[in-house]
Parts: sequence; C-alpha cells; structure tokens
Amino acid sequence: MTKLRVLSVFGTRPEAIKMCPLALSLRERPEFDSRVCVTAQHREMLDSVLETFRIAPDYDLNIMEPEQTLSTITGKILTQLGAVLRDCRPQIVLVHGDTTTTFAAALAAFYEKIPVGHVEAGLRTYDRWSPYPEEMNRSLVGRIAEYHFAPTAQNKANLEREAVGGRIFVTGNTVIDAMRYTVNDAPFACAELNDVDFSRKVVAMTCHRRENYGQPMEDIFSAVADLARAFPEITVVYPVHLSPTVQRAARAHLAAIPNVLLTDPLDAMDMHKLMDRSYMVMTDSGGLQEEAPALGKPVLVLRRETERPEAVAAGTVALAGTQRGDIFALSSALLTDKAKYDAMAHAVNPYGDGQACRRICDALAWGFGLSDRQPEEFRPRQQA
Ligand code: UD1
Ligand code: UDP
Repeated sequence: MTKLRVLSVFGTRPEAIKMCPLALSLRERPEFDSRVCVTAQHREMLDSVLETFRIAPDYDLNIMEPEQTLSTITGKILTQLGAVLRDCRPQIVLVHGDTTTTFAAALAAFYEKIPVGHVEAGLRTYDRWSPYPEEMNRSLVGRIAEYHFAPTAQNKANLEREAVGGRIFVTGNTVIDAMRYTVNDAPFACAELNDVDFSRKVVAMTCHRRENYGQPMEDIFSAVADLARAFPEITVVYPVHLSPTVQRAARAHLAAIPNVLLTDPLDAMDMHKLMDRSYMVMTDSGGLQEEAPALGKPVLVLRRETERPEAVAAGTVALAGTQRGDIFALSSALLTDKAKYDAMAHAVNPYGDGQACRRICDALAWGFGLSDRQPEEFRPRQQA
C-alpha cells in the first residue's frame, strides 16, 4: 500500500500539546508516512512539549525572536516553509488552531497547492478583535482548509454556516487525548511545586493573551493580588509565560505577595497535574478551558468572551471578564460559597473522549481512499 505522506506543522506550546499525540498516532498507523515541521514560533516552551512526547521534528524553522511581531512571524514562515514543502512533498499539511504559525503555514501550503487539514477547526467568537489575532487566523484557515477536524458539533455548525467547503468531521479535541499521557500521581518535575501544600486551597492561574496586554492585564493582576491578600490561607500558583510583556506585568503586581508563587512555564505534565491538584483555575488560556473541566475544576475565564461555550453551558466554566472588581467578586465567592463551588466542580467532557487522534487518522484514511470505513463522529456522553 502506498502511504499517505502527512506533514504536521506547528510552532507554539498549545499547538504542540494538541498535535504531538496526533503525530504519534499517525506514526503508529500503517497507512501514513508522518513527518513533523516545527516553526518554533515558541522555542523553550515548544521544546518542553517535544521532550514530553519524545518527538524529534524532521524540520525546524527556528524563527523565534524576542518580542516578535505578527508580521515578522508570518513573513519568516512564508519565506521558509515553501522550501520545506518542496523538499518533503506531503499530500496533506496539517495545521492546528489559530496561531500565526497556523495561518502562515496554511497559506504556504495553499501557495504550493497542497491540501490543508485544520485540526481544532470551527471555534469562533465572531469578534475579529477578540481573541486577537486568533479569531482572524482561524477564520482565514477555515477558508483555506479542505479537511476540517471540528472538536464539537457546535464548531461544525459554525463552519457549515460559513459554507467553508471541504469535508468537516467532528472528532473531539486532541487535548483530551494528550491528557492520557500527562495526568498522574507522580511528583512534580518543578521542585517548587513539590513544596506547595495542596491541602490548602490552591488556585492555578495563567494569563498571556495579546488582547489582554496593557490595562486588562493590569486589572487582572490587581484582582489576583487583592484575592491573595484577602485570603492569606490560599496559595496562587502562576507559571508565567515567557513573553516579556507578561513577565514585566506579572512580576510588578505579584512577585512580592507571599502566598503567590510565580514559576517558570511548567512542562505539560506538571501543568496538568497542578490543575488536577488545585481547588480552582483562573485563566485567559484556551487550552485550560478544555482541560480543567475534564478534571472537575471550576474555571474563571479572564476574558470578555469565549469561543468554547460548551463548558460554560455545562456549568463548570464562568466568564469573569477583565474588570478588577468583577474578578475579585467571582473568585472570592468560589472560595467562600460552598454551594456555588460545588455547582461548578463536576467533571464534564464536552471537548473529547481521548479518541480524537484516531478519528482524525480514520478521516484522512477514508478521505484519501485508503479505507472505505466512514469515520464515526464524536458525541459527548450526557452528563449525569
Ligand atoms: C502565541 C499565540 C497565541 C497562543 C500563545 C500560546 C499568536 C499570534 N499567538 O502567543 O495564540 O495562545 O502563543 O502560548 O500566534 N517567548 C520566549 N520563549 C518561548 C515562547 C515565547 O521567549 O518559548 C517570548 C518571546 O519573546 C516571544 C514572545 O514570548 O517573542 C511572544 O511569543 P509569541 O508566540 O509571539 O506570542 P504569544 O503571546 O506566545
Ligand atoms: N501549559 C503548560 N505549561 C504552562 C502553562 C500552560 O504546559 O506553564 C499548557 C496548558 O495545560 C495547555 C496549553 O499549555 O495545554 C495552553 O497553552 P497557552 O495557555 O499558552 O495557550 P492557549 O491555549 O491560550 O492558546
């Protein structure tokens, strides 16, 4: 049988966490010749994930520079990826999500007339400025892609409404597959975390989004400082993103507070274990909104909107916005109101069942005529 050559292209931490399990699945299946190209839009944060999943990329564009701009990332990828595509000659290029790597890699593949498969397709806020630039990136990739791997039925409905064309499959999110590798009871690799007392209430937080740079981030960090001072018995653990803008703001507001622990970015295993052992999560991250509900942890989203409404509907995720007073009120209520906490703290899995990678492999095999078995769709189990 002639194998289908698949090139997976990714560049940042979240893309890597969600694409590495897929690259491993593709490698295990006889129908595929799986290759990996990293743009390294992120460097240390990407390498940490590659190490966790033991993936050695076939191509590494190594583009990251300090305080890079959207244009420099896009320009470098467009210029360098064409040569990789001509060397590798894949029959399909897989991209993930909504980063600048996602958009530039999809465009580069289109320029080479290679079909694009979009993993984590169809998430939308329908506000072009929020999240910025991700909403535009994923919408544009939706137009380019010929295979759309939508995590949920709602994501598929968005794509159908936009009449993007191509084939749409509901697969679940590969992040739930990734968690099968990462969550366990072992000690943390990060020594500071082994000193945290998890019998106290621990709040795991992250914050990094570009649209939160400036005043929203100042307000978010002020609210977290207010919370830590008002509740000295809790511990806030915040692994700070390596973006210099985030580092400066986080350290200015939070470094001097004794019950706030600022760490370097964690590897994926530590991050998932941290959430699993925490009381609740506060975040502007996309991935954490999918992971924490699967672990039964309430999530306060530090944004005005979300493209992941499924867990909001299920009651485990609440939008806190970016106003200092609102964030303080909602987070302190979760610390003091047991009924409110219990109503949010139940495990839900609207985003996947750990089989997304298999479904994507099945869909590719079927789409390219290597199998006549039509792939099944992911359907979340009804929550009790
Ligand atoms: C990017 C994505 C965002 C995603 C986020 C995940 C875009 C436009 N944004 O945003 O969608 O949510 O990744 O974390 O694609 N840096 C390092 N080392 C690293 C990683 C980053 O030093 O390993 C620093 C560099 O100075 C870099 C800066 O962080 O210039 C910003 O990185 P960049 O990828 O441009 O933006 P993110 O905010 O990480
Ligand atoms: N994550 C991690 N270490 C950290 C912070 C986050 O491994 O210190 C993981 C997290 O569990 C999730 C992914 O990184 O899988 C989310 O990445 P991020 O928040 O940077 O991006 P987003 O999901 O918002 O695009």
